[in-house]
Amino acid sequence: MCGIVGIIGCHDISTELIKMLHGLEYRGYDSSGIAINLHGNFQIYKKAGPLSILKKEIAGITLKGRSGIGHTRWATHGAPTDTNAHPFLSSKSSVTVVHNGIIENYKALRDKLSDNDYIMESETDSEVIAHLIELFTIHNPDWTFNSLVAYLSTTLKGAYALLIQFADKPNEIYGLRFECPLAYVITTKTVAISSDIASLITYDRNINILRDRQAVHLSLEKEELINFDSTEVDKLHVNVDWDIKAAEKSGYDYFLRKEIDEQSNSVRALKSALIESAGKINSFIKNTNPDSVIFIACGSASYSGVFASVFARQLELKQTVSWEIGSEFRYNPPIINEKTLVIGMSQSGETADTVTALRYAKSKNAKVISVINVVGSTISMIGDLTINLSAGPEVAVPSTKAVINQFIASMFFIEVLRTQDQDSLNKWLSTIDDLAVAIKQVIAMEDSIKSYAKLLAGHQNMFIVGRGLDYPISLEGALKLKETAYIHAESMYAGEFKHGSISLIEYGMPVLILLGDKSVALKTIINAEEVATRGGQLFIIDSLEGEKFDFSSEVNYIKLPHIKNPFNLITQIVALQLLAYHAGLHRNINVDRPRNLAKSVTVE
Ligand code: AGP
Ligand code: GLU
Repeated sequence: MCGIVGIIGCHDISTELIKMLHGLEYRGYDSSGIAINLHGNFQIYKKAGPLSILKKEIAGITLKGRSGIGHTRWATHGAPTDTNAHPFLSSKSSVTVVHNGIIENYKALRDKLSDNDYIMESETDSEVIAHLIELFTIHNPDWTFNSLVAYLSTTLKGAYALLIQFADKPNEIYGLRFECPLAYVITTKTVAISSDIASLITYDRNINILRDRQAVHLSLEKEELINFDSTEVDKLHVNVDWDIKAAEKSGYDYFLRKEIDEQSNSVRALKSALIESAGKINSFIKNTNPDSVIFIACGSASYSGVFASVFARQLELKQTVSWEIGSEFRYNPPIINEKTLVIGMSQSGETADTVTALRYAKSKNAKVISVINVVGSTISMIGDLTINLSAGPEVAVPSTKAVINQFIASMFFIEVLRTQDQDSLNKWLSTIDDLAVAIKQVIAMEDSIKSYAKLLAGHQNMFIVGRGLDYPISLEGALKLKETAYIHAESMYAGEFKHGSISLIEYGMPVLILLGDKSVALKTIINAEEVATRGGQLFIIDSLEGEKFDFSSEVNYIKLPHIKNPFNLITQIVALQLLAYHAGLHRNINVDRPRNLAKSVTVE
């Protein structure tokens, strides 16, 4: 979940490490640390809290050395304190380690180490790794890269990306990947390694990706890549065309707000990607000829699957289309066989719950399409076919532009299942141009959305209500409000309200009603009236054609520009993003990095 980085060959090593960590801070931000190797001695600085605290800590200290490793943490074992922050130094100061993931057998390993007189300083699962490596090298003075990898891969259970430095090898870094991402670049002057390509592209766009169960030994002179089991290595390079500026704030206060603005361009980028891959998708689906289609994802990404399943029913598709949550799927799976098409949606391409669910589906012979936003990511390597969301780098933890592209991509798969005719698919895709314009128009309504956000910010609880295609939009809106504004927003089928939850309505309780699905809008309005009658404060987001609807009481009404159904529903997501963003600002929340969250959830 966290970010790990390493670099060799820089003059200002601490600045370089902090710069790399900065690019990864969204992955975890409860503590950070760096270890610099200075002529065989490690200088280690680590602090609880965001990277800015570590930066303050080392400001004014001259840190020499030409190599080092660093970490931003999302704690799994042990509170976010200075002591529990990585890197960890072995007892005899010969090894430093940063770790991403979870060591499941850490208790047994701690016992083994204490039998060898090692004393643990932290409460983490990660610290054992540094001591174990030291002990291994003491017991095996002629150790090699291969023997170290063989030892670690058989000793550590769980998931890990590791970076290791030895005191007596100041210009070398070792990296191991098992179920957590790791990639590196090599230039004439520098070697850089990281959990995330975002912090590598400033050095080189030609990225080397470690596959699962691979390890690398890097120095300025040599690069050794091996498989854990010593079989022949299948190298993976990708060229990343991300604009470096896209990962910078460029004058905005928050990445979140910048990324909301970027959406009219990112939907266009997806349109081009889909036009380019339409033929491939078409023939893949034709060859699979699925009886059923299952969308698998987590969080916001999963709601695009809910959307697709409602859309498929409305189009009366002959296949059953359903959606599953990654973390539940493996433990409670539906029937899957070679006639099942599984579509895995993931912005990061690293979400562990989705990864394991997709692997399970493959083991049952399902055909898998991976839909990702990060090339070379784990999920991109699982699919029989991989489609890029083309949203560009997304830094804010609340996902915006990637989610919108996930919704569009999901709809597109349903369209392909409905018609294999290329002309009608192209015509369908051309509506994305109207969507790009409409997104700008919604953003231009920011002032009125902001005033409603101020009203919502005064409440701790609210409902978001919709029917049909509006229901998945309500799920996304509710999650955005929870993570960005810490408001307990509950999504609800409009017709379900009267079966229990309406008892929570009392004077002033905010209820946001979504009106984007024409086929059920009048029914939703009846349910809205039932809420208003009981004192609920109505907020309406309406993207339907025509005038505003009349309500018997006063309502806070946002009338969005209308575009063709179902694209109009996507504009509602943009309005909800702005609502959540401004409600979050009113509540003094760091909307880019809400508490307890991380962007890339690489633990189960
Ligand atoms: C979205 O705002 C959330 N931060 C989260 O629900 C996210 O969509 C989910 O964790 C899935 O992430 P992924 O797309 O990277 O797999
Ligand atoms: N399990 C480790 C810890 O709690 C690493 C967590 C992470 O991946 O951020 O320190």
